Amino acid sequence: MDYFTGQNELIFTQETFDKMLENMRFQESCRILPQPQSDRVREKVDVLKMLKDPNSVTKIVGPMVRYSKSSFRDTCAHFDCDIIYTPMMLAREFIRNDLARISEFTTNLDNIRGKGLIVQLGVNNSIDLIRTIELLKDYCDAFGINSGCPIKQQNDEMIGAQLIYNPDGLCEMVSAVKKKYRDEVKLEVKIRIHDNWNQTVELCQRLHSAGADWISIHGRGKNTRSSQPCNFEAIKYIRNHLPETFPVVANGDCFSLADVKTIAQKCNVQGVMAVRGVLNNPAMFSGYDYTPWKAIELIVHYSVEYGLHFALLQHHLHCMLSNSSPKPNSKTLKKLMDNEIKSTFDIIDYLDTHFKLKRYGEEGFATAEEVPYL
Ligand SMILES: Cc1cc2nc3c(=O)[nH]c(=O)nc-3n(C[C@H](O)[C@H](O)[C@H](O)COP(=O)(O)O)c2cc1C
Repeated sequence: MDYFTGQNELIFTQETFDKMLENMRFQESCRILPQPQSDRVREKVDVLKMLKDPNSVTKIVGPMVRYSKSSFRDTCAHFDCDIIYTPMMLAREFIRNDLARISEFTTNLDNIRGKGLIVQLGVNNSIDLIRTIELLKDYCDAFGINSGCPIKQQNDEMIGAQLIYNPDGLCEMVSAVKKKYRDEVKLEVKIRIHDNWNQTVELCQRLHSAGADWISIHGRGKNTRSSQPCNFEAIKYIRNHLPETFPVVANGDCFSLADVKTIAQKCNVQGVMAVRGVLNNPAMFSGYDYTPWKAIELIVHYSVEYGLHFALLQHHLHCMLSNSSPKPNSKTLKKLMDNEIKSTFDIIDYLDTHFKLKRYGEEGFATAEEVPYL
């Protein structure tokens, strides 16, 4: 039997399929590293030093499944942030297959120029964790364990927020990494809060003893919706019960540069992470209250350069244009999400029809702030 997509397009024959299965069986799981294309090596950024600097608040672009791909990360890196996350990647998938690796993680030596890159993992055991770290440690500055994802499917497998109710399992993963790599690998854990804040304090104390380098606290519970306000009081309470030298990052409801300062003061932390704020405005940490047009030119450029699925670019542009100035009217915004848009070419045609979109290399590329309507 042959395999067809919904459009009756041939994918592969039974024979090919059997061969693929056979190959998978003998595949050395950790075989592929991204092929080095240069003798240069990535210069590491000391993210811990940043987080321990008492003189400035570290500004962090947090992880977003689907959206924190290299084109978005590079766009953010043009603005004033210090650390940028990848989306959560499932360690189990990453170590399993070459194509999973390619589709999950791409980078290059100049990716996010000088900012700290954190690879965030969804993981429930130290073997998967260490195998993934082994593959990726030369391509990033630290790893994060996602213990904040509330999705049931992940939680059922003890991945994400469920881990905050499994301190033994979580601490075992942290100590296994630290035992193997010591300071060579920096490891963060991103958590949500318990109803009883003392439980979170205890978890963080145990993570600290296990060797975690820092903690990021999303100030909501496992089942709290993001429409509910972030609990900064809880973050402050937890922070103040931990050793001062142990960096804590506050996450939740940071939508402007002014919020960074307020949240850092409210929570007594040295790092502030924004997520929905930067999705809508990657220039947020540079003090822009709206998305400058240059950010739109940059994300289009990087998406074409690195390759990004057109639907993801479409979503980014919709978030960013909805937050730009002067904001496009609803009819123009709606056209971006139209069924007529079926590819990156269509997106560029759309932009060229309504705005003056400059290309990389063209004079004035990535300099405009206001939306340049035609
Ligand atoms: C689209 C989207 C994707 C997300 N993906 C992740 C993820 O991959 N890993 C993670 O730890 N949290 C993820 N989160 C949660 C955020 O990192 C963050 O904790 C939450 O949005 C609160 O921050 P904010 O108020 O600044 O948005 C995601 C949130 C959004 C909106």
